[in-house]
Amino acid sequence: MSTPETATAVAPARIAHHRRYLMCRPEHFTVNYSINPWMEPANPTDTAKALEQWQKLYDLYLELGHEVELIEPLAGYPDMVYTANGGFVIDGRAYVPDFYYEERKGEAPAFAEWFRANGFDTVMPKEINEGEGDFLLAGDVILAGTGFRSAGDSHREVHEVFGREVVTLTLVDARFYHLDTALTILDPVVEPGQTAGIAYLPHAFDEASQKILAERFPDAILVADEDGAVFGLNSASDGYNVIISPRATGFEKQLRERGYNPLTVDLSELLLGGGGIKCCTLELRGA
Ligand code: ARG
Repeated sequence: MSTPETATAVAPARIAHHRRYLMCRPEHFTVNYSINPWMEPANPTDTAKALEQWQKLYDLYLELGHEVELIEPLAGYPDMVYTANGGFVIDGRAYVPDFYYEERKGEAPAFAEWFRANGFDTVMPKEINEGEGDFLLAGDVILAGTGFRSAGDSHREVHEVFGREVVTLTLVDARFYHLDTALTILDPVVEPGQTAGIAYLPHAFDEASQKILAERFPDAILVADEDGAVFGLNSASDGYNVIISPRATGFEKQLRERGYNPLTVDLSELLLGGGGIKCCTLELRGA
C-alpha cells in the first residue's frame, strides 16, 4: 500500500559548514561622525556594552566550532569593528576595500597588511568598494550592491579579480546602504550548479534588481519590513545555524520553517553605528 501524499512540505536537512571569520574588538567604538542614517553623534554610546555584546557573538562562533581571527583595532577608527567592510575574500585572494567616506579610508591599509601577513594573495583596488558589505558570494555568483557605497566600477573590478559572474543590485533606501543590510546568504556552501538559499528585503532594491532577484532566487525568503528595519538580514549563516538579531522575530520563524536553526545575539549598541552581526564578520575563504 502506498503512503498518501501529505500537503505539509518537509524542510530539507541543513548542514553546518565550518567557517573562518575575521573580527575586530570594538575597543575604540563610538559614534563621533555620521555616514549613515543610523549614526547620531549627539546620542551617547557605551563602549563597554559594545564590547560585551560583541564578545557574545565571538564566543558563539567558537562554540559552533568556527575559527575566528582578530585584527588589532586602530584608535581613531571607531567603525573598524565592522570588518565585513575590510575586504572580500575568495580562495585565499583578498580584494582590499577603498572606503567611500574619508572617515574610514585609513582602515584599508590595516586590512591590506593583515591579509598580507596572513598569507592571502592581496589585491589593491582601483575603485571605491566596501568589501563584503557590498559583495556577497551566492554559490558561484557574486552579488554586488551599489547605490550608496561601492561604485558600479568596482563590480567590473571584482569580476576581474575573481573571474566570477557578478550580478549588480541597486540599493534605494538609505537605511540599507550596504548589500549585507538588505540581503543575506543562508547557504555559504552549495554543490556546483545549485542555487544558494538567500533572504532579502525587496523594498531595499530598485525594481530592476527586485526582478533579477525574483528570477534568480525563486525560493528566497522575502523578509517583512519590520524585520528588515531591525537589521534582521544582517546575519551570519553556516548553512544550518543562522545568527540573527533577537528583534527579527518574523524572520526567525521563517528560518525555522525552512529547516535552519536561528540563534539570536543582540548587538543593539553596535546598531548605533549602523552595523549588526554580519557587519562585524568577514568571511575568510581558503588560504
Ligand atoms: N558605520 C559604518 C559605516 O557606515 C557601519 C558599517 C556597517 N557595515 C556593513 N557591512 N554593513 O560605514
